[in-house]
Amino acid sequence: MSETSTKLDFRVLDEILKTYEYKKSYLIAMLQNVQEVYRYLPEEAMTYIGEKVDGLSPATVYGVATFYAQFSLEPKGKYEIRVCDGTACHVRGSMPVLNAIKNKLNLSEGKMTSDNGLFSLEIVSCLGACGLAPVCMINDKVYPQMTSDAISIILDTLMKEEGVA
Ligand code: FES
Repeated sequence: MSETSTKLDFRVLDEILKTYEYKKSYLIAMLQNVQEVYRYLPEEAMTYIGEKVDGLSPATVYGVATFYAQFSLEPKGKYEIRVCDGTACHVRGSMPVLNAIKNKLNLSEGKMTSDNGLFSLEIVSCLGACGLAPVCMINDKVYPQMTSDAISIILDTLMKEEGVA
């Protein structure tokens, strides 16, 4: 199990549910709040909401959570890396950048969070900075004109800062 596994505090969940008066019409807002706390939607939280809120079931909550791209069912890392693979970025070399990240962090299609829980990777279709392609973001910071060498150095630096280099 990864280090990001979160022990759920059901009191926190109850506080969130109370804020929304346990009403199923606020399900999306409840899920957004849960994701703000845990940085993803833990399965136990979805089950809990499905059982506690009248008119919902765990299956319904899960169905809604998987429908919306804004919700993550996987733990996110402290560093959320977004790599753009939109047309402008793709033709200017986003794939080598993406592969460098995957290699360095030992990630793959089905595994987008690093074992130490520090980094998570998401591929997006445009970051709104096509003139700077290929573009990556790490949390809120934009990294223009990325290359596989540049992103490797950036990741090395972050890993060193975190003491995991
Ligand atoms: S296509 Fe990559 S930023 Fe727009």
